[in-house]
Amino acid sequence: MGGMKKRNLVVANWKMNPNTFLDAKKAFDGVRLGAKGLKNTDIVVCPPFPYIYPLVKLNSPKNIFFGAQNISIEPKGAFTGEVSSEMIKTLPAKYVILGHSERRKMGETNEIVKAKLQRAFGADLVPILCVGENERDKEGNHLGFIKNQIKECLIGLSKKDLVGINIAYEPIWAIGKSYLEAMSPTDIHETVLFIKKVLIEQFGSDIAGGSKILYGGSVEAENASEIVRIGNVDGFLVGHASLTSQFSDILKAVDLKR
Ligand code: 13P
Repeated sequence: MGGMKKRNLVVANWKMNPNTFLDAKKAFDGVRLGAKGLKNTDIVVCPPFPYIYPLVKLNSPKNIFFGAQNISIEPKGAFTGEVSSEMIKTLPAKYVILGHSERRKMGETNEIVKAKLQRAFGADLVPILCVGENERDKEGNHLGFIKNQIKECLIGLSKKDLVGINIAYEPIWAIGKSYLEAMSPTDIHETVLFIKKVLIEQFGSDIAGGSKILYGGSVEAENASEIVRIGNVDGFLVGHASLTSQFSDILKAVDLKR
């Protein structure tokens, strides 16, 4: 990738929170505060759909971007309750989280995730593809599971679209807990290397080198620095802690990586 330096990326996945726009605004104020003084890090805020537009309208520093947590597999039309990639793009928002385990649990297969990736690229959105195993075992079957997710979601996409692909590794067993139960930094490092290896094998070193690998799953202020230092991640996908004042500390920890 011609020596171009990758910026760190921290994605705030608010999931179906908070309950009111007033609280969403407060959480966003916290993100704006945390974004101050960062040098190497971009932030993507992914609120529930109804909050995106009013938050986009507020003043934000240049390193804050917006994203959706999902898009429809369909482009437009009679699909009650769905939101299209073009709608997100025109807000304007730039990113979309795809293949999150909480959506996979509602029935999203790799095939559906791949079709949504194609929709995202078609609308010039930047996807963050989530992968991750349900459980680990000594035989290393979880690695095969992750590899299969990456292959089934990405094979067949154009090289142009794959350049700079963002992959968020989220082991399902480590989601929604405290830092004490997150994955260990050395295990994260091992899995990040494995994901890079899969990308090199499948798509070549250009694609692998330009892609960003994020970790998600109980990232809190307490474990963020260690994971950045040892885990060799390009950033985080943060759930519950992204709605709290801890988020600033997580951002600072990531920004130390350059
Ligand atoms: P938590 O940070 O709450 O564990 O959530 C992780 C996640 O699923 C982010 O997408």
